[in-house]
Amino acid sequence: MSQVLSDTLDFTIRVARLADDNEVILLRVADGVRAYLNRCPHAGAILDLGDGSSLEDDGLLHCGLHGAEFSPEDGHCVAGPDGCRSLWPVPIRIEGDSVLLAGAPLPPPRAPR
Ligand code: FES
Repeated sequence: MSQVLSDTLDFTIRVARLADDNEVILLRVADGVRAYLNRCPHAGAILDLGDGSSLEDDGLLHCGLHGAEFSPEDGHCVAGPDGCRSLWPVPIRIEGDSVLLAGAPLPPPRAPR
């Protein structure tokens, strides 16, 4: 049975905890929902503290540690320090009004530095 990450589609951004204690950021976008690990791929900082704080008025996800910015639609790093890569996508599927985990996110996040 797949883990339910959200039992509603009525959100802009929210964070769900996985069984392995990693977290997933869920974002509503124009054509559905995107899911990324709640880790910055630059150096592993937590992006969102569960309060939507990483989604700023410019519509981008921001990392507070070194300022990387990511597109919610595809997770690409649109600005940031050298070596910044795209967010790690998490496979999901929508069933009714629920968002379910559809597989393991890969690769696992690096430990924060
Ligand atoms: S850890 Fe996020 S920009 Fe460096």
